[in-house]
Amino acid sequence: MAPPPLLQFLLLLLLCCDLQLCAAANVSYDHRALVVDGSRRVLISGSIHYPRSTPEMWPDLIDKSKDGGLDVIETYVFWNLHEPVQGQYDFEGRKDLVRFVKTVASAGLYVHLRIGPYVCAEWNYGGFPVWLHFIPGIKFRTDNEPFKREMQRFTAKIVDMMKQEKLYASQGGPIILSQIENEYGNVDEHYGPAAKTYINWSASMATSLDTGVPWVMCQQSDAPDPIINTCNGFYCDQFTPNSNQKPKIWTENWSGWFLDFGGRVPYRPVEDLAFSVARFFQRGGTFQNYYMYHGGTNFGRSSGGPFISTSYDYDAPIDEYGIVRQPKWGHLRDLHKAIKLCEKALIATDPTYTSLGPNLEAHVYKTSSGTCAAFLANVNSNSDATVTFYGKTYHLAAWSVSVLPDCENVVFNTAQIISQATLSETKYVKTYSQESDQPIFTSEITESGWKYVQEPVGISKTSAFKREGLLEQINTTGDVSDYLWYSISVNITGNEPFLFNETQSILHVESLGHVLHAFVNGQSTGSGIGNSDNVNVLLETTVSLVPGKNIIDLLSVTVGLQNYGPFFDLSGAGVTGPVLLKGQSGRIDLSSNLWTYQIGLRGEDLGLSDSSIWISQDVLPKNSPLICNDCSEK
Ligand code: GAL
Repeated sequence: MAPPPLLQFLLLLLLCCDLQLCAAANVSYDHRALVVDGSRRVLISGSIHYPRSTPEMWPDLIDKSKDGGLDVIETYVFWNLHEPVQGQYDFEGRKDLVRFVKTVASAGLYVHLRIGPYVCAEWNYGGFPVWLHFIPGIKFRTDNEPFKREMQRFTAKIVDMMKQEKLYASQGGPIILSQIENEYGNVDEHYGPAAKTYINWSASMATSLDTGVPWVMCQQSDAPDPIINTCNGFYCDQFTPNSNQKPKIWTENWSGWFLDFGGRVPYRPVEDLAFSVARFFQRGGTFQNYYMYHGGTNFGRSSGGPFISTSYDYDAPIDEYGIVRQPKWGHLRDLHKAIKLCEKALIATDPTYTSLGPNLEAHVYKTSSGTCAAFLANVNSNSDATVTFYGKTYHLAAWSVSVLPDCENVVFNTAQIISQATLSETKYVKTYSQESDQPIFTSEITESGWKYVQEPVGISKTSAFKREGLLEQINTTGDVSDYLWYSISVNITGNEPFLFNETQSILHVESLGHVLHAFVNGQSTGSGIGNSDNVNVLLETTVSLVPGKNIIDLLSVTVGLQNYGPFFDLSGAGVTGPVLLKGQSGRIDLSSNLWTYQIGLRGEDLGLSDSSIWISQDVLPKNSPLICNDCSEK
């Protein structure tokens, strides 16, 4: 039997309230905190970037975030993912931003939507679509009309989508905060006086979109009112906003770090992470976000860089695969509980600071009715200390904060891990060492053999074209592929000064990166690879030439486009030269000769799903560079 209508209504109301979709909430702020529906809030937030996991994973990731004590999920919006071709939008699958925001809402959490649209984020080209670069007269991230027009169009598009779905808190949805731009303050000096005009324009453009919730800019000390300037970093307790009307917000507390190909796997001890968070709340902070809470995976060609790895695990509290990382997750959960026990006092007042000795600090929050919470810190990283606070003695481990929600009892110390530590078990797929054919790890995945696809050396597509001189790679490919072939033909009579003897020479190639493979007459003759510190490649290799026609094929590969730094959008890639053949008594510079170019590989055009192109083989093909199977036809 159905419940009576009044009960039905009340049940519905209860359900809605649980989803935080109860009613429109007014979000504002004062010097102390974000104010949601008239109440100052202490908010713990964590970044989960929706395209770095799958929609099937989202509910579980968000539940684990909620169980970990988060109130807010923070995500960027990735422009180049949603508008790969100008004017053609894509919000399907992992790109389904609305579904993601609704998933967060249905767990009862809030959203901080960082629209950017410049995001950095170790994301290809910092989130900008590469087509933007080809708009005549455009200059990125400055007072430039074509750029501002496009930035405004995309920002408005996202805001409108959210509004249509009633996703802003002002409409009853979960979004309580939004970000425009990203860390422009780190680079603005390079853009001259136009930087200030641009940031003011960004601020008024964003506020004119009328979302009904506050906007922030991170690392922007001159963010104009009413935009809140916020902090990014490993520690933000010393940060103060640019007005005493604005709350102290930490948009990125780096829970670990990102991984570069070839780099060390980053690790941030949870004791230090917890210390940084507790210090932030100790010294007046009220909104703190973990960047990342779940880092996830850079799928497809979304990694920025150059050389950002496909794993974006970040040593985050939830690992790349969605498994809680212990004791990181658990220790932080305990910290969040302790901080929430202090909430009443925290939001009521500013802290009162008392020194308890060198490097020993007490901050006390007290309401008018006497509710009291305290944080005791030992910021000396080498020695423990014993302090006296309100007549009692406390032991403070080095580099730690104790939380006392009643100003008397310690419920949590950042250096003392009480939560469970577990070791997760990883099942490896078959991996081979370079020395032997024996697998190092076996897996439960059984394999019936290997398959590979043959990729021809050099020019194999009819779309190839010729140009005099060496072309910059990104301008040539428009980043539709990581690969660009540079091919040239050299005629040898046998007595050229760039030969050592009748056949040998040194091939010298200079490239802006990121990876280079050289072939002479179809044979691999050497490779060069940059790294995240120095992307440039210099290749010098001895090559054997034959009398008559010789073909030199250079395959240049990008490994994620630059995502950070002043004018990062203009950093080039590919073979810029010189390309030389050097001998005992002379050299020849081939740089300005006629080159043939091919964008992309044949395999990319064929698509990996085409089963007819796969060749089966029982043993793993090793040390096999590209195979020249039709060289004789050249
Ligand atoms: C910040 C930036 C983020 C991310 C982070 C490093 O400076 O805002 O987008 O790049 O650094 O992971």
